[in-house]
Amino acid sequence: MELPNKYYYEDSSFKLINEDTFKALKNFDDKTFDMVFADPPYFLSDDGITCKGGKMVSVNKGMWDKSLNVKEKHEFNKKWIKECYRVLKDTGTIWISGTMHNIYSIGMALEEEGFKIINNITWEKTNPPPNLACKTFTHSTETILWAKKDLKKSKYTFNYELMKKLNDNKQMKDVWTTSLTKPSEKKQGKHPTQKPLELLDRIILASTNENDLILDPFCGSSTTGISAIKLNRKYIGIDNEKEYLDLSIRRYENRKNFNGGDKL
Ligand SMILES: C[S@@+](CC[C@H](N)C(=O)[O-])C[C@H]1O[C@@H](n2cnc3c(N)ncnc32)[C@H](O)[C@@H]1O
Repeated sequence: MELPNKYYYEDSSFKLINEDTFKALKNFDDKTFDMVFADPPYFLSDDGITCKGGKMVSVNKGMWDKSLNVKEKHEFNKKWIKECYRVLKDTGTIWISGTMHNIYSIGMALEEEGFKIINNITWEKTNPPPNLACKTFTHSTETILWAKKDLKKSKYTFNYELMKKLNDNKQMKDVWTTSLTKPSEKKQGKHPTQKPLELLDRIILASTNENDLILDPFCGSSTTGISAIKLNRKYIGIDNEKEYLDLSIRRYENRKNFNGGDKL
């Protein structure tokens, strides 16, 4: 795998880039990746409050998540989605997670940049944080959009039979119910928006085959990479925060001790 970026960490199938994603993406050739999973900033850090472990805490995740106005948010999303279209193979697919704060812009940007949405997955959280203000319903879902290139002859991977098998031999629906990320997956440290491995396992098994190359342009603690390696896929993750890449490395190097997330 001869690729032009300079890696912060490099092992056979697990590579990390410490750079602004817009700069790093530019260095890849067209049609490099079989699949992209992206968990971009949701832009929900607006100084509000939420509940964590029974305590009132700030919703702020970091400067990278500071809220932007509608236009700025959409420009940001269009820009990285356009680059992902370029580096994705014609047979590849892209998955993007979000909440009401960004998902409508993401859906619009996907269509504007030449993608066709295949599914709108609802991730239903079994244990969402309680709603402290009591002025809205409890927020208990996230949306994951799954899209392919809007080309006449693009045959993408969907392991339908496997998904059915994993669902007691019934067609798998687009509502997926799992808990928030388990404490056993945070033994190497915490990322404020770390995704559960169970979610990434399902996404990767559904839309890739062994040895496929997966990109995560906002990788954080590399949940995508840990799942990819477990399932014999190849992974490249990009994040501009060294702290999160160091956490990714600890997770990768200690993965043999990992005892959670194996359930699909
Ligand atoms: C929502 S988090 C991803 C969490 C990840 N899915 C996980 O399971 O740990 C988004 C990440 O994008 C990174 N990020 C935000 N803007 C970026 C940019 N322009 N370039 C590179 N990374 C960026 C942040 O540092 C953050 O770790």
